[in-house]
Amino acid sequence: MRQKLVAGNWKMNGSKASIKELLDGIKKGIGDVVSAEVAVCPPFVYLADVEAQLTGTPVVWGAQNLSTEEKGAFTGEVAASMLNDFGCKYVIVGHSERRSLYGEDDALVATKFRVARAAGLKPILCIGESLDEREKSITNEVVARQIGAVIDLEGVSALTDGVIAYEPVWAIGTGKTATPEQAQEVHQFIRQRIAEKDASVAEKVQILYGGSMNAANASDLLAQSDIDGGLIGGASLKAEDFLTICRAAG
Ligand code: 13P
Repeated sequence: MRQKLVAGNWKMNGSKASIKELLDGIKKGIGDVVSAEVAVCPPFVYLADVEAQLTGTPVVWGAQNLSTEEKGAFTGEVAASMLNDFGCKYVIVGHSERRSLYGEDDALVATKFRVARAAGLKPILCIGESLDEREKSITNEVVARQIGAVIDLEGVSALTDGVIAYEPVWAIGTGKTATPEQAQEVHQFIRQRIAEKDASVAEKVQILYGGSMNAANASDLLAQSDIDGGLIGGASLKAEDFLTICRAAG
């Protein structure tokens, strides 16, 4: 039985005050979340605040990106060792916003996966097709290529050191969620694809769904056999909505 994971990707949102209020709310309700793991991924500058407020609670945290470099003259970048310094368990790699707005390609994302893993962080590898790719019926090819880049670099067993998040680009921030059947179909394809290389890795690896998951649609999505949790954007910024999703995960 795979444990479910619900991770909030706060993206570039929040202030010291709003984050304190959000975390206070999450901490108050987290006792009702029975078995799912709960994580939040704030912007880098708030990691110290989040660490201070969540240490000693069941909620874990991570970052939204990392550098491929260890240290040195890389202005504006943040190294894996720095994320460890602030107690991060997870780091998101290859989010579609990084791919589309900042030119991150499969090779760079795979390198980020490698660097995170080598540092003992759990990479949350985001994959997913654009609307155009879905309409061209090449969703499976796209996600297979995106995962393949990591498998080619690190080997299939490396996938169990991280988490996969299937986030159809057309569902992110649009309010247009994939139906539970649409999501399950792709999750099942991803798992089968991994099983062709290693059945036990496929059985173990957590595959999260992301893209307009919210308090109203979470339980139907999470009931699908290959959906092992969620990567939540907008709905992770409100404690009550986020907790509703976490409770739906078990
Ligand atoms: P939304 O939940 O706002 O659609 O964002 C999903 C996402 O991109 C999480 O990484």
